[in-house]
Amino acid sequence: MSVHVLFPLVELEAGTARKVEMEGHQISLVRIDDDVYAIGDICSHEDVSLSEGYVDTEECLLECWRHGAMFNLKTGDAETLPAIRAVPVYEVSVVDGMIQLVIDEGSEPLRTRDPVTRGRFDE
Ligand code: FES
Repeated sequence: MSVHVLFPLVELEAGTARKVEMEGHQISLVRIDDDVYAIGDICSHEDVSLSEGYVDTEECLLECWRHGAMFNLKTGDAETLPAIRAVPVYEVSVVDGMIQLVIDEGSEPLRTRDPVTRGRFDE
């Protein structure tokens, strides 16, 4: 497990997403109020960046800008078509005002995971 101190929470505007790359993982950081979520940044439908999409702060979802699939920020699940597979979820926290991201040792910087075998990445 590796912990990365990223940047101050105040630099991530509430209701927005930002892409970060860490250890080969492409991650979308999303802020809703003072909570931060971290999910895989690559849509499981096609190869586009989710952090460029719309943040639904009421339902805690991130919408893919390309075809509108909605991803749950807590579980990574694809809640609506056309995406059917979840994206990875990362542990993230705010410590002393700084966003901290945890990358599990051994987790592969792969793009998607099977929703049936949640936690295991597809190849
Ligand atoms: S590329 Fe994301 S829903 Fe199609």
